[in-house]
Amino acid sequence: MSRIAYVDGRYLPHRHAGVSVEDRGYQFADGVYEVIAVACGRLVDEEPHLDRLDRSLAAVRIPWPMSRAALKLAMREVIRRNRIGGFGAIYLQITRGVAPRNHAFPAGAKPVVVMTARSLPSFDLAAARRGVAVISAPDERWHRPDIKSVSLLPNVLAKQRAVEAGAYEAWLVDDDGRITEGTASNAWIVTADGALVTRCADRSILAGITRGSLLRLATGHGTPLTERPFSLDEAKQAREAFLTSTTSWVKAVVRIDGQTIGDGCAGPLTRRLLDWYASYVDGGSAEEGL
Ligand SMILES: Cc1ncc(COP(=O)(O)O)c(C=O)c1O
Repeated sequence: MSRIAYVDGRYLPHRHAGVSVEDRGYQFADGVYEVIAVACGRLVDEEPHLDRLDRSLAAVRIPWPMSRAALKLAMREVIRRNRIGGFGAIYLQITRGVAPRNHAFPAGAKPVVVMTARSLPSFDLAAARRGVAVISAPDERWHRPDIKSVSLLPNVLAKQRAVEAGAYEAWLVDDDGRITEGTASNAWIVTADGALVTRCADRSILAGITRGSLLRLATGHGTPLTERPFSLDEAKQAREAFLTSTTSWVKAVVRIDGQTIGDGCAGPLTRRLLDWYASYVDGGSAEEGL
């Protein structure tokens, strides 16, 4: 079955789907995006994702291309046309539009919406518990990584370093030696005294939607937690570490720069958080994960 993309109001097979060579997303990375998980054909955390899209659009001054309700309908149609009945993900991108190349905003350009969707295998809980390795890399991004911009070159380069080092992710380190986040995920540790720590969602990181849901689940279960920066050294000494994202859910981090974390597999709190998140995804509301 050919995959179907939504391009500027039309549903097209991928081989016929394309945008103009003068789309500003292509020429300037002048656009924003979201990735939303699909579970049992349902969009996970749809409203928080659309709220973040709203914040990204406002931050880069791209107007909403259509109403929120119309966008939701189009997303459902993309899911339906791609026959995603089980797990999957939808990618949604909005660029400033098509115009002759000139840095300043073009007068009268109409934002271009592109959506693609794909089925994914059921989440591999055992693999998430076995965990992954990460490397550290300097955070070379611009000063607004809180905006979910399609401008991802530093993330791409750091992720490639990770892949070439045999790791799953790169944890980015700021000028003060503190971890900001991963190239496509948020970073967490559990300290020696059992406290859950993740960096505060200020302008230095993307406020992950998975991060937000997990914070609510952890709070609801009475888990002590702190939102504060932590250093690479502290992470290497941590009792447990893990990362979160829409498609990775909660994945144990068992090695950082080759150094084993804890027992070299998911620690007890990471396991509990993963279980809570898995039932949350199944159930659909933060209350149901409690
Ligand atoms: C830089 C960065 N941080 C964090 C995340 C995790 O965000 P979410 O949980 O919304 O997928 C992502 C996801 O793509 C990301 O690109």
